[in-house]
Amino acid sequence: MRKKMVAGNWKMHGNLVQNKQLLDAVIADLNELGEDLVVVCVPYLYLPSVQKQLQNTKIALGAQNVSQHEMGAYTGEISASMLSDFQCQYVIVGHSERRMLFGEDNHVVAKKYVAVQNAGMAPILCVGETLEQREAKVTKQVIEQQLMSVISLAGVESFNKAVIAYEPVWAIGTGKTATPEQAQDVHAFIREEIAKQNLNVANQLTILYGGSVKDNNAPELFAMPDIDGGLIGGASLIANDFIAICRALRH
Ligand code: PGA
Repeated sequence: MRKKMVAGNWKMHGNLVQNKQLLDAVIADLNELGEDLVVVCVPYLYLPSVQKQLQNTKIALGAQNVSQHEMGAYTGEISASMLSDFQCQYVIVGHSERRMLFGEDNHVVAKKYVAVQNAGMAPILCVGETLEQREAKVTKQVIEQQLMSVISLAGVESFNKAVIAYEPVWAIGTGKTATPEQAQDVHAFIREEIAKQNLNVANQLTILYGGSVKDNNAPELFAMPDIDGGLIGGASLIANDFIAICRALRH
């Protein structure tokens, strides 16, 4: 059985007091979720405090970004081994905000993906098309390129230790969710692309949907056969909403 998962992406939100309150509520509610996995991807600075708070819970810690370099003169950057020092288990790479606002191309994203795996953590690789690309009917070509740049650097077997998040750029933070059918169509395509190279890897690969997932649309999205959970932005900051989304994995 593929692992189901909900990952919260806090982006650049929170402070020490708010983080503690949010996680107190989430931990109290979700601690006994069985096989399902809940991850919170927090800003770098809060990794140590969140790490402490998550000790002895089933909630895993993640980061939102990483340097592609192992170490060296890269002022302001954070390496993968630094993240694993704080028991990070997951790192988001290739989020569309990083691609668009910080100029990360497929090659840089692939290098970050490798850096995360080399440090023993699992990348959450984000892929997805812009509205223009969807309207130009090149969604699948765009996603294929995003996948192939990782496969050519890391090999298809690397997806045994990674998660993919399909996040249509037009759905992120806009309140416009992809319909379950639209999302399922792309998720199935992603799994087929991986299956062409290795069926076993494809069958066990967790593929998350992200983009305006809320408590009211999570159940129908998560019910689709190739959607294994969600990457949640805005709604991961509201304890009750995030808890309800995590609970929707159970259906
Ligand atoms: P959203 O963000 O849930 O606020 O749309 C999702 C994401 O960017 O990962």
